[in-house]
Amino acid sequence: MKIAVTIKEVREQVNEWRKQGLSIGLVPTMGYLHEGHKSLITCSVSENDRTVASVFVNPMQFGPSEDLESYPRDMDRDAALCEEAGVDLIFHPEPSEMYHNGFSSYVDMDTLTGGLCGKSRPVHFRGVCTVVAKLFNIVMPDRAYFGQKDAQQLAVIQHMADDLSYGIEIKGCPIVREADGLAKSSRNTYLNKEERQAALVLNKALSEGKKLIEAGERNASKIKDTVTEIINAEPMAKIDYVEVVNWSLLEPVDNIDGTVLVAVAVFIGKTRLIDNFIVKADDRGRVYVS
Ligand code: PAJ
Repeated sequence: MKIAVTIKEVREQVNEWRKQGLSIGLVPTMGYLHEGHKSLITCSVSENDRTVASVFVNPMQFGPSEDLESYPRDMDRDAALCEEAGVDLIFHPEPSEMYHNGFSSYVDMDTLTGGLCGKSRPVHFRGVCTVVAKLFNIVMPDRAYFGQKDAQQLAVIQHMADDLSYGIEIKGCPIVREADGLAKSSRNTYLNKEERQAALVLNKALSEGKKLIEAGERNASKIKDTVTEIINAEPMAKIDYVEVVNWSLLEPVDNIDGTVLVAVAVFIGKTRLIDNFIVKADDRGRVYVS
């Protein structure tokens, strides 16, 4: 496994692989890797001849009062995890390599980014789209892997890849959870013991929402109310949003119909956590929840 810190090094390696006719998978990350990231890498390794993982805490996607400085970093551990999972090349640039002096071009999106996480994180998706577009241009992969954990990000990147004709297959991978149901996240390290326990309320509330749908409930407000009530019963939790939206444009829906995302963002103390599930209702009224 190689670690590249410059765009030039990545391009040279990727060009060599292309000449040999090898397919390439890309797994973009901000590091401090866990089983969730590893599942994306494993998927890429099984579907491509070569896998590139990027490890870059992207300053552009953090708001001024967010956790850019304190975001956890451990490159030695990340390199070991990547090597074990079968990564061929890690791209680990400095911010100055990605954003040279005078950088002033951005990728932005009019739809999909205004609601959910975009509401409380107004610059976030511009930063995500810009860095992912750069990574796509640098690596030029056949496939790129994103987790359903960040469902809005997955939808936004699928939309961007389509809008900008990247010709890259965007693959969504299921949410990996701790044994007690908490979705794995690099930010879980911010939680103290009591907060870690309180954080279980996200999955607990969503599980009740799922149960309602599986029992035949199709009214989005009823699902929202149940999920909201359960989270509000946890004294350490403060809701940022509970939303039921269609998957195509992430717009609020009245009924569970077609593919629908049920998503929450909740502050546990100072830490903002997100979780979700996706429901697919077929034309015979059966539902599939993931
Ligand atoms: P990061 O938070 O490091 O996540 C990298 C990828 O891992 C994302 O696609 C995310 O959805 C996925 N992931 C995180 N936790 C997961 C879990 N528990 N189960 C499954 N997948 C999980 O998301 C980013 O970085 C950045 O925004 C990035 C796309 C790299 C752009 O900077």
